[in-house]
Amino acid sequence: MNLARTSDLWWKNAVVYCLDVETYADGNGDGVGDFLGLTQRLDHLAGLGVTCLWLMPFYPTPNRDDGYDLTDHYAIDESLGTFGDFTEFVRTAADRGMRVISDLVVNHTSDQHPWFQEARQDPDSPLRDFYVWRDEVPEDGPHGVVFPGEQESAWTYDEVAGQYYHHRFYHHQPDLNVANEAVRDEIRKVIGFWLAQGLSGFRVDAVPFFLETDGIDETMELAPHDYLRDLCAFMTRRSGGAIMLGEVNLEPEQQREFFGDEDGDELQMLFNFIGMQTMYLSLARGDAGPLADGLRSLPDIPDEGQWATFVRNHDELTLDKLTDAEREEVFAAFGPDPDMQVYDRGLRRRLPPMLDGDERRIRLVYSLLFALPGTPTIFYGEEIGMGENLAVEGRRSVRTSMQWQPGPTGGFTSADRDQVRRPPPEGDFDPDHVNVRDQQADPDSLLNWFERMIRHRRDLPILGWGEWEVVDTGHTAVLGVRHVLDDETVLTLHNLAATPSHVDVDPDVEDWQVARDLLGDQHVEADGSRLVVDLAGHGYRWLRIESS
Ligand code: BGC
Repeated sequence: MNLARTSDLWWKNAVVYCLDVETYADGNGDGVGDFLGLTQRLDHLAGLGVTCLWLMPFYPTPNRDDGYDLTDHYAIDESLGTFGDFTEFVRTAADRGMRVISDLVVNHTSDQHPWFQEARQDPDSPLRDFYVWRDEVPEDGPHGVVFPGEQESAWTYDEVAGQYYHHRFYHHQPDLNVANEAVRDEIRKVIGFWLAQGLSGFRVDAVPFFLETDGIDETMELAPHDYLRDLCAFMTRRSGGAIMLGEVNLEPEQQREFFGDEDGDELQMLFNFIGMQTMYLSLARGDAGPLADGLRSLPDIPDEGQWATFVRNHDELTLDKLTDAEREEVFAAFGPDPDMQVYDRGLRRRLPPMLDGDERRIRLVYSLLFALPGTPTIFYGEEIGMGENLAVEGRRSVRTSMQWQPGPTGGFTSADRDQVRRPPPEGDFDPDHVNVRDQQADPDSLLNWFERMIRHRRDLPILGWGEWEVVDTGHTAVLGVRHVLDDETVLTLHNLAATPSHVDVDPDVEDWQVARDLLGDQHVEADGSRLVVDLAGHGYRWLRIESS
């Protein structure tokens, strides 16, 4: 394949790593992570083989939603360092071959944002119309709340303004009014600003809500998707290789719209929420069927588009696309205690504790992460098998500080544990049991396995670029995906069940001679046209089908 083209479309063969500066590494000993600490840890990430860092919000914030409540789109929260520290970080990441993207949060601001403060106080201010106001809660307007149990309504009365304002998320996060051209100009400016600081794009927060204009009095002269197209065109005008990775947790057919036309003129990447949710159902059942159906349900996407595959993100592990009965199955298998669940739709646990630390299953899942069609997206700490801390409230249970070495704070900070906002868990997943330092020294550790798997994944652009299809493996427990690019064929097999499987597949390559084991040395010689492989319980194989 054309290497120059592959690097132009870098996101198709990237390894993305999401982290929160606040919880990653504390460089100045005050108990809060910062850019200084993160910069000192960049070699860990480069060594792992990460090619793109996604930073969760690092902007000034009252921190009522972990930084997703911004008071300034053009600055760094002072607890995380100075702008100089940020620039040093971006420069050092580039030096180590890593791009940086950041969360673009433009659906809403914090209610402490100076825009909202002026808007509520002065009905004549041009900023009033930056938000969505109504005298009465509109019957036809949007009502759905995103955080049931923590949020009562999507409209809150503001005493100062004497009106209701709209908020899809918490009441302290008023929604911006994208129907207002001045708001759209400002959003463009925000994008241009961060591109000028050296970022390679954005993870766009809550895209469908951000585009929503229902309930807004004046309608936008642009249809929502025209607006998104406009914004993406603006971004790529300013910086050719920049991308938008959208949070669009909708049904697959609806997701397709967000990639734009056949040439992909809207978002470059979308998270594969369906793949993630059906994978957990498959794991719970020991049956590849749900995941196979999930993958088959994905729409065709433009050549330049890409799915971001993930096992865990920073939010609740949402199971909202499963039926109630399916969700109950996953809850029963992986989070039966109500304290492990949140919003009636998700889990607030990380994978290793859900699998009782079973290394075979953990590796099976991460082999899937790297092998499924798309770009693997890692949440910090997954590379060492970190667990959650259920003592930390809500979704934040999975956002605890990174575990670098043994000890009560896991080497995250030199401050005392009681100064750490989100301390690591106690028990089997505490830093004495799970940490980077010990795993670096152990060739069989999850960390070293991750590093090897990432090397394999990066060596196989076919997994990000190829045409792919789910194939019949003759066994419901085994997921088979055949990837084809030019004259190359790679078949990946994953056994979701604990029992061994005898797989019999048609690799669909004429006169093939050998199925080369890309992760080991268990090559399979051809004996007839079918490929017959024995897979151990929870075993996985990546095979290149080679003809003479
Ligand atoms: C983010 C959440 C955040 C919410 C509000 C979501 O899409 O993933 O973590 O709370 O947006 O900004």
